[in-house]
Amino acid sequence: MPSILLLSDPVLEKLRISGGATLHGELNASGAKNSAVLMFAASLLSKEPVTISNVPHLRDITNMIELLGSLGVEVVVDDSMNIEIHANTISSFVAEYDIVKTMRASFLVLGPMLAHYGKAIVSLPGGCAIGTRPVDQHLKGLRALGTKIEMKDGYVHASVENKLKGTHFIFDFSTVGGTEHLMMAAVLAEGQTVHENCAMEPEITDLAEFLNKMGAKVRGQGTNTIIIDGVEEMHGCHHRVIADRVEVATYLIAAAATGGKVKVKGAQPEHLGAVLAKLQEAGAEINICDEGIELDMKNKRPKAVDLVTAPYPGFPTDMQAQMMALNAVAEGTGTIQENIFENRFMHVSELLRMGANIKLDGNTAIVTGVEKLKAAPIMATDLRASISLVIAGLVAEGDTLVDRIYHMDRGYEQVEEKLRMLGADIERVPG
Ligand code: EPZ
Repeated sequence: MPSILLLSDPVLEKLRISGGATLHGELNASGAKNSAVLMFAASLLSKEPVTISNVPHLRDITNMIELLGSLGVEVVVDDSMNIEIHANTISSFVAEYDIVKTMRASFLVLGPMLAHYGKAIVSLPGGCAIGTRPVDQHLKGLRALGTKIEMKDGYVHASVENKLKGTHFIFDFSTVGGTEHLMMAAVLAEGQTVHENCAMEPEITDLAEFLNKMGAKVRGQGTNTIIIDGVEEMHGCHHRVIADRVEVATYLIAAAATGGKVKVKGAQPEHLGAVLAKLQEAGAEINICDEGIELDMKNKRPKAVDLVTAPYPGFPTDMQAQMMALNAVAEGTGTIQENIFENRFMHVSELLRMGANIKLDGNTAIVTGVEKLKAAPIMATDLRASISLVIAGLVAEGDTLVDRIYHMDRGYEQVEEKLRMLGADIERVPG
């Protein structure tokens, strides 16, 4: 693996945060991890090299590079994290459990390998901390495209004689990964495919644009009906991934929780409607400028907000934990309902250890803000939960120590550096 990709071993590290600073300043948005990982999978659709830029330097990205490497695919990374992927060197069609289990998105190499080479053996991803996360819709849609699927020893053995065939498939419910997976599989199918009841997240649109640059004929992305006219072959291309809307929202929420003022440069406000509306409800002044998004809380304590997570353009589940941390120190009581994943409240028990006032009732958390949280040793349980605990640490009295920050390193690039630039007192310490 190129030396630039060596990340320190976060299993052995913790974050120490000394609470109390009001965040002020500017930072640059990173590229969207959830777009980039999909483009890595889509690169398997072409024999020509593709180049992807604005890729964040994260553990999920290095895991994806490792997976492609295990298939024999050549990946070249330069100093600026421009990634060139050359899939014509592919020599294996097996994605092993050891890699797929570390990151569910890697399951999505199945569709592209199958569409291009007619065969793929990919480990089932299994559940994860936030829920069981089945892939039934992925498999149902692949079958509708003519795939023969057998399950053996926890692996999906998929094959197709000749080519996949265009079809009309209606998702039972909105699934981001399902929409992306079947879109990638259908681009090389014979004839037209119509997918209905699709998810509409910006990362899906970004992936569709990437596929179209590779020569695909995809339209309707960003709506709930996506139409794909199959093409004979895909080509090389260059694409810059969109800004990471979850990362941007995280810094805006962190600044709002501390009463601060930040500008996130490169942020794409058009992807953040529901979150910006909630931040305004919490009392923040939001200014969309040429460079990105500015938030000014004018040193005020936020007001608690009610929210319900929903597929895009609703309030994203990936920003629920961060808003919970904000509500924990807000004025008043806010109700948070989680509708996407069945187990995405694991940050609650840690926030309670810091003195938060939260009552759980099924998939609803009723959060009554306290004046100040109190520092405590706490443990991250998943990616977004981990960053919500960092926000809690920023607004707590004393030194908070966050354990298991390897979850955070999957999705947040240079988090301590970025927060320190905004005035936070935060450092990585040995575990
Ligand atoms: C994507 O996961 C994101 N991951 C998640 O981001 C995000 O939380 C999620 O979409 C929802 O927005 C990536 O983009 C890599 P889904 P995905 O399929 O595609 C159920 C983060 O923190 N379902 O939309 O796996 C599923 O269990 C992460 O960055 C089925 O039942 O999400 C869930 O309850 C975590 N059967 C719901 O649908 C299926 O076949 C939505 O899942 C597929 C999904």
